[in-house]
Amino acid sequence: MEARGGRAACLALGLMLLCSSLDAATAAPAGPQPPSAVGQFWQVSDLHLDPTYHITSDRTKVCSSSKGVNASDPGPFGDFLCDSPYQLILSAFTFMKDSEQQVSFMIWTGDSPPHVPVKELSTKLVINIIGNMSSTIRNFFPDVQVFPALGNHDYWPQDQLPVTTSEVYNAVADFWKPWLSDEAISTFRKGGFYTQLFEASGSSQPLRIISLNTNLYYSPNRVTVNITDPANQLAWLEGILEASSQKKEKVYIIGHVPVGYLPYARNTTALRKYYNERLIKIFRKYSGVIAGQFFGHTHRDSVMVLLDEEERPVNSLFVAPAVTPVKNVWQMESNNPGVRLYQYDLLNYSLLDLWQFYLDLRDANKKNESNWKLEYILTKAYGIEDLKPESLYEMAKQLSVPHSRLFEQYYSNFIVSYDKTIVCEGGCKSCHICAIKYLDYSSYTDCIKREALWR
Ligand SMILES: *[C@@H]1O[C@H](CO)[C@@H](O)[C@H](O)[C@H]1NC(C)=O
Ligand SMILES: *[C@@H]1O[C@H](CO)[C@@H](O)[C@H](O)[C@H]1NC(C)=O
Ligand SMILES: *[C@@H]1O[C@H](CO)[C@@H](O)[C@H](O)[C@H]1NC(C)=O
Ligand SMILES: *[C@@H]1O[C@H](CO)[C@@H](O)[C@H](O)[C@H]1NC(C)=O
Ligand SMILES: *[C@@H]1O[C@H](CO)[C@@H](O)[C@H](O)[C@H]1NC(C)=O
Ligand SMILES: *[C@@H]1O[C@H](CO)[C@@H](O)[C@H](O)[C@H]1NC(C)=O
Ligand SMILES: [Zn+2]
Ligand SMILES: [Zn+2]
Repeated sequence: MEARGGRAACLALGLMLLCSSLDAATAAPAGPQPPSAVGQFWQVSDLHLDPTYHITSDRTKVCSSSKGVNASDPGPFGDFLCDSPYQLILSAFTFMKDSEQQVSFMIWTGDSPPHVPVKELSTKLVINIIGNMSSTIRNFFPDVQVFPALGNHDYWPQDQLPVTTSEVYNAVADFWKPWLSDEAISTFRKGGFYTQLFEASGSSQPLRIISLNTNLYYSPNRVTVNITDPANQLAWLEGILEASSQKKEKVYIIGHVPVGYLPYARNTTALRKYYNERLIKIFRKYSGVIAGQFFGHTHRDSVMVLLDEEERPVNSLFVAPAVTPVKNVWQMESNNPGVRLYQYDLLNYSLLDLWQFYLDLRDANKKNESNWKLEYILTKAYGIEDLKPESLYEMAKQLSVPHSRLFEQYYSNFIVSYDKTIVCEGGCKSCHICAIKYLDYSSYTDCIKREALWR
């Protein structure tokens, strides 16, 4: 099984050095496998372009996104106190293009504008930036099908995404017309979400993408306070999933703000608790059709495994790190810029692996060279077979072992190799461990209590 995934991946990836080491690591007697058994797709998230970024001697003036603070060590590819210079975004897409990976599509999980005070942006500027990022992606990958999702920054004022049609939804729908069907565009204009079928060549069944506007459930969104089903998205989602399960389709859910608990904050969901509970219930009910879930927003790299009421793993969820390296001045950690590649079984869309790539920002700035490289391969890094819920559950068990070296690796990946000297122990580790396995209030709270007893 493992050798099969690894071998096929190698053929598709064509990275000879990695291939030989992978084959040695998975010394199973696999026969030759058709490379068509594995499909691939990219995920990019949280580009956060800061058009004001420029090198200048007054470091408070390098970028608006540093909000008057001195940039830390600005270079051509950015700074940890700034959002992305255009050059950083170009370097990410250039790397992806030059890697010549065969992908069937790309998912893009939102957040294009910079982190600046609301007064410094406007509906027009936000639309311009989303348009710029959409054209940039399309220019780099004219033949790749892209499935985007809106982020909480893809609106003005930020976070306040509305439950009916709006200037932003309409403008963005026009930018995304080349990628989406008329029906998807029409749903998107009304509420910022859509579904679309993807027909992969060599696949026995189509894949359904559901792009959710989870920003409607994001805690700072005041528009949706007291609304039980903003834009009727939950009813719509259930309807789509019900139809999918009858048609025996497979579904990937994509969205910006993730469900579940934030791994870096105790007892905190990103979504309002009520919506989180409702989504978890829906995802449990339809876990049989959902082959994967993909989010962004936290800017960090984490996984979640959804358990059913009997604690059986039923769904795999992934949060991809950002392209922007930005952090606040009072934050200890940030992330290096990252992009990732997923591999799936072409026949049933079962997730096989993910390859996380990153740019060592300090090194890139020092050398004036964007040296994007592989950070880790998930199955190899954690010693699991694939990305199925059962495998992630196994991984979560290994991570929770006291003094687990694997958890150190997980934490380093969480911050995209930002700083090997930062450690996460005790309460920090408890939050991560509970957030990986427990996505609803009652199981999460039990986990935190248990952890408190023996740490
Ligand atoms: C930025 O750095 C300069 C030079 O070191 C210093 O004089 C200035 O006070 C700093 N500004 C802020 C806002 O920290
Ligand atoms: C996007 O913005 C960048 C930086 O502001 C600019 O250089 C570039 O020409 C723009 N590209 C498009 C396609 O609008
Ligand atoms: C929401 O409902 C609560 C309780 O009924 C009420 O106190 C609050 O003012 C409402 N908020 C909004 C924004 O409607
Ligand atoms: C967690 O937060 C909720 C509010 O979202 C609160 O009601 C609950 O008491 C908290 N639980 C713990 C264990 O801190
Ligand atoms: C998908 O198909 C493969 C065979 O190609 C099989 O090994 C795997 O168990 C299937 N996965 C699911 C989730 O059905
Ligand atoms: C960095 O490299 C680019 C070309 O890749 C060049 O145009 C630029 O001048 C270089 N900058 C510095 C500071 O060396
Ligand atoms: Zn973001
Ligand atoms: Zn966000």
